[in-house]
Amino acid sequence: MDTCHKFLQVDGLHKSFESENEIKKVLQDVSFEMTFHDSLAIVGPSGCGKTTALLAIAGLLAPTKGTVCFQDRIITGPNRSIALVLQEYGLFPWKTVKANILLGAKLQKINFSDRWLEAVKNELDIGGLDDLYPAQLSGGQRQRVALARALLLNPQLLLLDEPFAAIDTVTRERLQNQLLKIFQQRRFSYIIVTHNIEEAVFLGKRIMVLSNGVPSINKIIHNQGMGEIDYRNKPEFFDRTKQLRTILEEMP
Ligand SMILES: Nc1ncnc2c1ncn2[C@@H]1O[C@H](COP(=O)(O)OP(=O)(O)OP(=O)(O)O)[C@@H](O)[C@H]1O
Ligand SMILES: [Mg+2]
Repeated sequence: MDTCHKFLQVDGLHKSFESENEIKKVLQDVSFEMTFHDSLAIVGPSGCGKTTALLAIAGLLAPTKGTVCFQDRIITGPNRSIALVLQEYGLFPWKTVKANILLGAKLQKINFSDRWLEAVKNELDIGGLDDLYPAQLSGGQRQRVALARALLLNPQLLLLDEPFAAIDTVTRERLQNQLLKIFQQRRFSYIIVTHNIEEAVFLGKRIMVLSNGVPSINKIIHNQGMGEIDYRNKPEFFDRTKQLRTILEEMP
């Protein structure tokens, strides 16, 4: 089968890493689907394979078994409609902010207008930073530059690997709000990997909990109330965070 009919369909994903004397089973039978303009948060303990899953979806790592199907095609390599924001931002310290933002589009030979570039920078409040280097930016600014690089590609699927870790709580919530606003204004889907329970509940229409066990537990929580900026103040938000915390605490 080399076609499927979902926006994104991850089917029976397995990934093992082989070294000289052992085979490390990381992902075991992970399956889920996404529609267009959908969002999913992935949580789970360190080492359970969250980054591995994103790399497989981005076409940067071949699954040991199982398939990732995106817009009717099995993923076998990078796809122009999928953008990945790496853990630790993935910025090059020797390039300016502007060069870092343009890098993805240049590498993928994607044309964009100056208007589009300005719109993305304005959406993320990084208009005046073009000539600075990453070392001259705050963590929150670096994160927004990394997001700008991905959004400039106008992706249909945005993959975010712990994008707001190592940022203070207030800035973090501001960035979460910004992402939600951009998501509401534009048409794309995103998957966000996070260790933060509130972030998962604020940003995921569904939340997938991955376990370290073998096989991977791959539990999905439906989070219908998500999508409003004031969701954090609603009783459903507290209920959902409690539910997620309980699941994580009870994990092996
Ligand atoms: N290329 C590789 N070769 C060998 N082992 C690897 C490789 N990449 C990842 N691993 C191992 O696979 C496991 C899962 O790694 P992964 O980075 O996906 O975890 P994670 O869930 O993203 O963790 P964290 O929350 O700490 O970021 C880890 O034990 C890691 O050491
Ligand atoms: Mg990771």
